[in-house]
Amino acid sequence: MVQIREQVRPDLPVVSGPLPGPRAQAVIARDGEFVSPSYTRSYPLVAERGEGAIVEDVDGNRFLDFNAGIAVVATGHCHPRVVEAIQKQAARLIHMSCTDFYYEGMATLAEKLSAIAPGNVPRRVSFGNSGAEAIEGCIKLARYATGRDKIIAFFGSFHGRTLGALSLTARKAVQRRGFGPLLPGVVHAPYPYCYRCPFGKRPDDCAVECVGHIENTLLKTIAPPEETAAIVVETVQGEGGYIVPPQKFFDELARVARQNGILLIFDEVQSGMGRTGKMWAGDHFGAVPDVLAVAKGIASGMPLGATVARTDLMNWPPGAHASTFGGNPVACAAALVTIALLEEELVDNAARMGAYLMDRMHDWPQRFPIVGEVRGLGLMIGIELVRDQATRARAPELRDEVVGRAFERGLLVLGAGDNTIRLCPPLVVNRDQCAFAVETLEACISEVGNRHA
Ligand SMILES: Cc1ncc(COP(=O)(O)O)c(C=O)c1O
Repeated sequence: MVQIREQVRPDLPVVSGPLPGPRAQAVIARDGEFVSPSYTRSYPLVAERGEGAIVEDVDGNRFLDFNAGIAVVATGHCHPRVVEAIQKQAARLIHMSCTDFYYEGMATLAEKLSAIAPGNVPRRVSFGNSGAEAIEGCIKLARYATGRDKIIAFFGSFHGRTLGALSLTARKAVQRRGFGPLLPGVVHAPYPYCYRCPFGKRPDDCAVECVGHIENTLLKTIAPPEETAAIVVETVQGEGGYIVPPQKFFDELARVARQNGILLIFDEVQSGMGRTGKMWAGDHFGAVPDVLAVAKGIASGMPLGATVARTDLMNWPPGAHASTFGGNPVACAAALVTIALLEEELVDNAARMGAYLMDRMHDWPQRFPIVGEVRGLGLMIGIELVRDQATRARAPELRDEVVGRAFERGLLVLGAGDNTIRLCPPLVVNRDQCAFAVETLEACISEVGNRHA
């Protein structure tokens, strides 16, 4: 008898058996005993290996990763050229400490970041190990360069969890509760969340009240211009719900910053490195910051953060700012090859795949009563779930249910904001993988919608 073996597509998921499997359960039990309970795990995925956009768990189940280590593995899991660069560099020099010595990889990477940073502006770079550290560098530099101490940030924003970055973060109470007092002099403004306009406006009668609040209230009361160093803004708000501001927000923000001598700092930690189909989300708006925070996708998973500033601003003396591990040679090698891959093809692929996804998902609010809005740029897409399209009442429990069901069908997605599903796959995803993600989410959203109708 001829045996017909099932054809298995290596780029698509296969889940066999209930989740979590036995090995996953054992790891989760040990984790529960010994690892800090402060991590938020949405579902029991215990990863063993990854390749491209596929992650295999310890029980041999394969998942399509539309999360990319939270927008980190830009070039996919273990891209062969990234792995090769890491291996070669690790065999030659793992660490030296840029605080006291030179090595070529750091100079080359700083030169490259300066070249690809937004605007035709000479830049210098200070390296850390994470997004939060990149933000710490921004805060310190802004204060140092301006001699002013106050910082304006936005509600809903996430800039990291170290104390300086946390002072700017205004996303969830649990992230700040019990950790105060935080940095003094940080004030927050409403973010341009147009689907839920904090000023009750619609796009056609919006006069950019968010920036008006900064100009007419904050700068006139608690953050006068002569004391305000910087405005720090996520170019697309990430953890807050994948929220894309309108063009006029960036235009107005730049005007207010310029007229008051306040530095404009873009946090492109999540939205940068090609994710939105351009190298920087700010490029969609022709927006050029004075200082830029970069991390996550920069080194395909090696820890690296960068504060990229105008050369004339980054003029602090030796000893003012540094980190032992920041800009480690292995991370720099991974970043250089990551940027090469982005420039060769992956930024374009992000734009193409993002357009394909949006084309298939833009009518979801008409097709599914629990979808309020689908929004995004490139491969940074948010699907906001609501109880009622008319009232726009948030549906966090429906969102969590969709995320859980997608996991069971082999698709890894996470939430962002209270009730939004975020899609941030590696920039190597192909069309079939995008089609799988769309069809899986359609099935899950319609099941959850029907159950709650
Ligand atoms: C926009 C943004 N900034 C900063 C951070 C902090 O990065 P890290 O977790 O590497 O410290 C994050 C993390 O999610 C982020 O999304």
